[in-house]
Amino acid sequence: MTLPSFRIQFATVAAVVVAAAAAVAGCIIHDGGAGAGSSSVGGNLLPASSLKPLRQAGAAAHKRIGTAVMSARLSNPKVKALVAREFDSLSPENEMKWEAIEPQPGHFNFDAGDRLVAFAAENGMRMRGHTLVWHSQLAFWVKGLKADALRAAMTRHIQSVVGRWKGKIAQWDVVNEALADGPTGELRPDSPFAVLGPTFIDEAFRLAHAADPDAQLFYNDYEIEGDSPKGEAAYRLCKRLKEAGVPIHGVGFQMHVDPRSWPSADQIRRNVERYAALGLLIEFTEVDVPVGSISGSIDEKLQRQREITRDIVGACVAVEKCSGITFWGVTDGDSWLNDAHWGALRGRGPHYPLLFNGDMQPKPIVAGVLEALEKPSK
Ligand code: XIL
Repeated sequence: MTLPSFRIQFATVAAVVVAAAAAVAGCIIHDGGAGAGSSSVGGNLLPASSLKPLRQAGAAAHKRIGTAVMSARLSNPKVKALVAREFDSLSPENEMKWEAIEPQPGHFNFDAGDRLVAFAAENGMRMRGHTLVWHSQLAFWVKGLKADALRAAMTRHIQSVVGRWKGKIAQWDVVNEALADGPTGELRPDSPFAVLGPTFIDEAFRLAHAADPDAQLFYNDYEIEGDSPKGEAAYRLCKRLKEAGVPIHGVGFQMHVDPRSWPSADQIRRNVERYAALGLLIEFTEVDVPVGSISGSIDEKLQRQREITRDIVGACVAVEKCSGITFWGVTDGDSWLNDAHWGALRGRGPHYPLLFNGDMQPKPIVAGVLEALEKPSK
């Protein structure tokens, strides 16, 4: 992706100003070392006391409102209280991925996942499982296995992980990011699971369904939200699975927004509607709206963030089978986009992509979510 130079200049100045202001105020919260200095934000905040909890507004619109966390974040009482107040769906940001949960063949680390599942249950939150079969964050020992050994490993993995939380995890992202980037519309050729042939996806869904027949099973991917070759390929894939009787119940649009190239609200809504017409649920699974490449003052950036998010949430509110919206993190300090590698994919930061600032105060984007939940477009 390209980095427009005038924006780099702006962002550099903005970063310096924001960092200096925050240092003076002493208000930056450093979270796990990610993106130090980029978690606080200038611009106007919203008065927290006057806001309805997001989960309450979501419930009135029949939408779950979710967030993704690492279990250690919940040992901070303030984060714990904020998550419990605002969200009624929980996703594990990393701790149920293969490399974390089965780092050695047949040796499973369920502790972090257990803590998240317990927290969700204690706070009346739905749990989403993320993710079973993915080429990335995959344990090293799985890479390069021959087809028979890989099939056996995938079978044991899905049976063990889904079985562990049978009846406790409502939705699983069974297969993540299987499609190639770009215009080919094909499956990702570099996935270690490719040696199983294109129906490895069908197999994964069948295994997950057998392990927990009540769990709702999703195909999850990025850049499939609007009109694009990859968006068409995702639709064709889900349609084929559904028509073949594979136990797929929904599609996850990750919705990692790139404001430099983002589908219109109408495109997103039409796309949601066509999956609903197949009888599938739709979830927005990993929403974040980075503002680094949006031009203007910090207030203008945050207003644009609010509008983009209002449109996204509005597309879900407009379609009954859209069941929830998950934001990929709680505060700007938590975001994976604070990592230089990932952040650079969205242009120059700071990105401030989430609902709450580094001090856990609600930003204008929260008003955008509430507006869409409370004032459906039709
Ligand atoms: C990200 C996490 O947020 C980071 O902490 C980690 O370093 C990399 O993965 N698509 C997905 C998520 O499905 O699992 C990814 O999460 C973001 C992109």
